[in-house]
Amino acid sequence: MSWTVDEIPDQSGRVVLITGANSGIGLESASVLADRGAHVILGCRDPHKGAAAQRQIAGSTEVLTIDLSSLASVSEAAEALGGRQIDVLVNNAGIMAVPQEASVDGHELQFATNVLGPFALTSLLLDQITDRVVWVSSMMHRAGKLDLADPSFRHHRYNAWRAYSASKLADLMLSYELQRRLTLAGSTVRSYAAHPGYAQTGLQRHTAVLSWPMVHQLESLLKVAQSADQGALPILYAATAPDLPPGSYVGPAGFGEMSGPPRIVGSSAASHDRDAQRTLWSLCEGLTGTSPGLPG
Ligand SMILES: NC(=O)c1ccc[n+]([C@@H]2O[C@H](COP(=O)([O-])OP(=O)(O)OC[C@H]3O[C@@H](n4cnc5c(N)ncnc54)[C@H](OP(=O)(O)O)[C@@H]3O)[C@@H](O)[C@H]2O)c1
Repeated sequence: MSWTVDEIPDQSGRVVLITGANSGIGLESASVLADRGAHVILGCRDPHKGAAAQRQIAGSTEVLTIDLSSLASVSEAAEALGGRQIDVLVNNAGIMAVPQEASVDGHELQFATNVLGPFALTSLLLDQITDRVVWVSSMMHRAGKLDLADPSFRHHRYNAWRAYSASKLADLMLSYELQRRLTLAGSTVRSYAAHPGYAQTGLQRHTAVLSWPMVHQLESLLKVAQSADQGALPILYAATAPDLPPGSYVGPAGFGEMSGPPRIVGSSAASHDRDAQRTLWSLCEGLTGTSPGLPG
């Protein structure tokens, strides 16, 4: 399969909300969808960065200020949308392997930003979503071990990569659990997950391990990373493909899922653990005080 953005159906009349739309994969996805006719809501924590992104995109856009690491900010952003119809929500914003820090709500920052914020946003908007939700996960989910009794590393030593891979495993599990619940409820809304492979973006800039310019130099030298626009392809495919089976996980088709055109890919045994999916869902409901209101 060799899919390109030219195959994206006309998006005129559709409203797409993309979080983390001021940079990397989010910005590329927003540009393509706006170019194909969608009205794109750029979910950004820094309104100045949002405005700068808006200037780079030809097409219909608006900026929504949202900090996914703060439940109050997520709830304000959802309120600001005032019950408007959203056809597609792309839970793209994320941070990777940052030094240990607590969110304003007291949760480990990656768990707060990559998992709790997207869960709360999805819960608060679900009644307004007409078509689909896309959760951006990672190949790193395969290394993920979720400690559902201690997701914020209160009782064991913090490891930045362990926290990141666990958060990306959680995104994938939430996408599967959401689809299961939507199907049970007889909803036509679909839940998908996607990962970009390995793309050269700003994601490494806050990591605890290597300096960002160093990582980019290494990537260029070794030619291991693809560009952000190539990395956006699986996300765009999951956000627009009309006949994608509900609950699919999309990633690049090339060697090791690092790069290449999008296709449906498999995921780890842990991601399919039904009991863990249910427990994670309840944990997110409890910690965010939000619920999509779907029967389990
Ligand atoms: N690049 C890869 O190879 C790769 C591989 C696997 C998965 N992913 C996933 O792809 C997604 C996009 O990452 P990227 O590679 O495009 O990196 P990126 O260029 O760093 O983009 C991340 C975006 O998320 C935003 N963000 C971070 N924390 C936020 C918060 N608290 N509230 C709202 N927005 C926040 C960032 O905003 P600021 O500019 O304000 O920081 C930025 O717009 C992430 O979920 C990442 O885990 C990427």
